[in-house]
Amino acid sequence: MKGLILAGGAGTRLRPITHTSAKQLVPVANKPILYYGIEDMAAAGIREIGIIVGDTADEIRAAVGDGARFGVRVTYLPQEAPLGLAHCVLIAHEFLGDDDFVMYLGDNMLQQGLVEFVDRFTATRAAEGDRAPAAQILLAKVEDPRQFGVAEVTGSGEVVRLVEKPEHPPSDLALVGVYLFDPTIHEAVRAIQPSPRGELEITDAIQWLLDHGHRVVHEVLQGWWIDTGKKDPLLESNRYILETLEPENHGTVDDASSIEGRVVIQPGAVITNSRVRGPSIVGPGTVVTNSYVGPFTSIGADCTITDAELDHSVVLDRARIVGVAGIADSLVGRDVEVTRSGSRPRALRLMLGDHSKIDLE
Ligand code: DAU
Repeated sequence: MKGLILAGGAGTRLRPITHTSAKQLVPVANKPILYYGIEDMAAAGIREIGIIVGDTADEIRAAVGDGARFGVRVTYLPQEAPLGLAHCVLIAHEFLGDDDFVMYLGDNMLQQGLVEFVDRFTATRAAEGDRAPAAQILLAKVEDPRQFGVAEVTGSGEVVRLVEKPEHPPSDLALVGVYLFDPTIHEAVRAIQPSPRGELEITDAIQWLLDHGHRVVHEVLQGWWIDTGKKDPLLESNRYILETLEPENHGTVDDASSIEGRVVIQPGAVITNSRVRGPSIVGPGTVVTNSYVGPFTSIGADCTITDAELDHSVVLDRARIVGVAGIADSLVGRDVEVTRSGSRPRALRLMLGDHSKIDLE
């Protein structure tokens, strides 16, 4: 079995964070989202992974390399434009050959991993011969299915219909961004036409399988699942992952500081006269002085946090937060400065990039 990870596309929903960088590389608990998917594939025994890349190809290549550090071999598959999830399968055909494969959307994170999901597909296909399913999908109950692919499932558990982002959803079962396919899918992606939004939809390709008499089985997800392309789900997955980390201190903490609960302090971090309350992580080389870092906060590498108070936030590398209290529920990008100069007249002096968002108390 091979793996196909989709890390192309345009990250418009996380703008401005992803104006300049891939949304799949935004960190959750100081680790790029994409790494979690690669690690899950490696744990499920997959050794050959194709990664679809678009405009941010260079950055993804620099972050993942040849895959050796994950114990896998990575092949990069450039996509000229984000023409749809089924288009990714179309251009990956040569890489995938006639192997079964697991397709994983690079901005999705799920708690349950891939081991059981992959094992079940392999076992069913071996046991059922001619009646073996051509695809296995993963579904999750969601509050607002209109922003996802949605599945209609009969009482006996057969998948009968799939629709992409429907205005009137036939159920509350959304498609999670993990799919298992046998080579029949290649015929399907060649046969379908672009949707009204101009994309070759994987939901249409799976519908094609159903319409042509192939079986599609499903599993309902255990545990949490997050499509991280927006700020709040990103903060949510950050919360979940931080709660699983083992406390570690590889930095320097002075006697005037207190570290409470599940806190990871990465190498070279320096905490002085501050209180850090877990679950949280302080990145390598980051300096926290006279500050409070509250629960569910991830601070990236080489940041400066001075006379500041923050919690429930993700702060990316090299950000400077100085003299500001009450930062919460925030995503702070790379090299961002949030400071208090004290100069008169008292005012908010902003220099914000396009699409920035500020919520003043
Ligand atoms: O997250 C689950 C949902 O993902 C499913 O419920 C939907 O059925 C499915 O269509 C998909 O919807 P999204 O609108 O969230 O997909 P998005 O455009 O965000 O793309 C998902 C990932 O695939 C993302 O990492 C970018 C990558 N991608 C996307 C497209 C359209 C590519 O690499 N190439 C592409 O052409």
